[in-house]
Amino acid sequence: MTVVGISGSMRKDGNTSLLIRSILERCENGGLKTEFISLAGKEIKPCLGCEKCKEKDWCVIQNDDWGDIMKKVMDSEVLVIGSPTYYFDVCGHLKNFIDRSYSLYHQRKLAGRKAVAVAVCANKGGARTIETLEGFLNTHEFSYLGWVRGKGYLAGDVINDHRAMHRAEEIGDRIIQLLNPRD
Ligand SMILES: Cc1cc2nc3c(=O)[nH]c(=O)nc-3n(C[C@H](O)[C@H](O)[C@H](O)COP(=O)(O)O)c2cc1C
Repeated sequence: MTVVGISGSMRKDGNTSLLIRSILERCENGGLKTEFISLAGKEIKPCLGCEKCKEKDWCVIQNDDWGDIMKKVMDSEVLVIGSPTYYFDVCGHLKNFIDRSYSLYHQRKLAGRKAVAVAVCANKGGARTIETLEGFLNTHEFSYLGWVRGKGYLAGDVINDHRAMHRAEEIGDRIIQLLNPRD
């Protein structure tokens, strides 16, 4: 898959999903192949800190959904990763997903892919959510294309944040330009 979007929200059709899907829809309209993955309902166990991944170059926890999702990221050219803001930061479910990617850090297995960070908050703290996502992306040496930050409380509210919705379109166009330079 060319562009993979991952929402960490437990609201499958919440605001984070909505913003990420807007980016992916734009990319699809520009001829790119995309896949949206919601972590809602997925089992993502926390990193054990066992450091065994240093030898295996893959997370030793096998019996959950992390591996299949991470393989899709590894097969992609662009990752659009997003989280709702929980206490001024990414939500715990997405943090578990991120922490497990330590297993790919030793050999820089994610390096060189492009990435976009997405965050939604009701009021305050979205900037720090983006910072955490940037920490993840920079550590893995993704090429960072930028962020989209939206505001919304109830699922679907972010559609009224016209600036964020517009920025999602702009980021989608940027991805299309980078992947289809002839357009
Ligand atoms: C546990 C929890 C913590 C939250 N913490 C914050 C916060 O620190 N700042 C904020 O503005 N909104 C906070 N919110 C509101 C969510 O960020 C907001 O509802 C967001 O739109 C949820 O995105 P989603 O629909 O993608 O899940 C919190 C919500 C929950 C459930």
